[in-house]
Amino acid sequence: MVAVPEHTAPGQPDPHEPDINSPAAGEDYPGRHREYEGRHRADLEGLSVWATAQSTGPVQRRGRYVPESVKHPARMLPAIAAHAVGAYTQPGDLVLDPMCGIGTTLVEAVHAGRDAFGIEYEPQWSNIADANIRHAHDHGATGRASVIRGDATRLMSLVPKALTGQVALVVTSPPYGPTVHGLVRPSADGVVKYDDRYNDGHDRGNLAYRDLTGLADGFAQILHGCATLLRPGGVVVVTARPWRKRGELVDLPSAVIAAGLRAGLVPIERCVALLAAVRDGHLVARPSFFQLQQVRKARASGTPMHLIAHEDVLIFTKAATSSEDGTEVVA
Ligand SMILES: C[S@@+](CC[C@H](N)C(=O)[O-])C[C@H]1O[C@@H](n2cnc3c(N)ncnc32)[C@H](O)[C@@H]1O
Repeated sequence: MVAVPEHTAPGQPDPHEPDINSPAAGEDYPGRHREYEGRHRADLEGLSVWATAQSTGPVQRRGRYVPESVKHPARMLPAIAAHAVGAYTQPGDLVLDPMCGIGTTLVEAVHAGRDAFGIEYEPQWSNIADANIRHAHDHGATGRASVIRGDATRLMSLVPKALTGQVALVVTSPPYGPTVHGLVRPSADGVVKYDDRYNDGHDRGNLAYRDLTGLADGFAQILHGCATLLRPGGVVVVTARPWRKRGELVDLPSAVIAAGLRAGLVPIERCVALLAAVRDGHLVARPSFFQLQQVRKARASGTPMHLIAHEDVLIFTKAATSSEDGTEVVA
């Protein structure tokens, strides 16, 4: 039996409602459980957990992106960009990715009938982003998009002033440094890592090669430019994966929130984009080779460690400020 408390404090679950988190609930009230789920289905569509890895990255990109896209060491899952575009914009709105890599945000935006532009520091990735946009248009995408090659820490010097206050949504993710990414193939000595670099590692303009403090400083500058371009009520969505360096947690999501605050943005939500598929009540993780290897080593040496199967999604809007007559305006 499910225990039913006599009194329920404000904010507590309704005791007459089976707790859907309790395994006993479904057994004791199968009919009511289904009824509960049915009634709440509409709410569930707006969950803070985004089911963005129901299919693998290669399956999500197949036919939608040019094959060279795979060379980029840290592509965003297309379903993450598509979810953000669907949740925060309407057709015709303008979307920006100031670190657009191979153009995932832009491709998903133009397929959804939004216009988009992106900045990318490395010519090899901005060329692929251009190719992906052409590919999207060849396959029926209706939105317009363009890519500017340059350093997004100087965003306002790269884009026309006329775009100030015009952007409805920014979707982006910072680079995580050279240790996390890449592909592997078997070799005589085990495995060989490849496609794990943004460039040859000498150009400090690429934020990938700065330490966490340098990355956070550069990212705050980029977000400051984004805030200037954002329209009133516009939204900034940043995905960042917590990762580990020599077994120690590098808390990139917290650094992103701090960078957003320094840029004058207001954090409004923290969601989770799953890097695991939901299947028959279970999560099927889609980890990289390196993540698996690190977790296996830690567990073998007696350190209990969870496999990271999500990205944090940090969501900001523009700060409201007071005008001279005391009314609240959006900065
Ligand atoms: C995590 S990746 C973004 C990947 C992208 N979302 C995609 O799906 O392809 C970060 C990107 O930022 C670029 N980048 C690094 N520093 C930059 C800067 N100062 N200005 C513009 N882009 C930069 C990197 O070259 C890399 O392509």
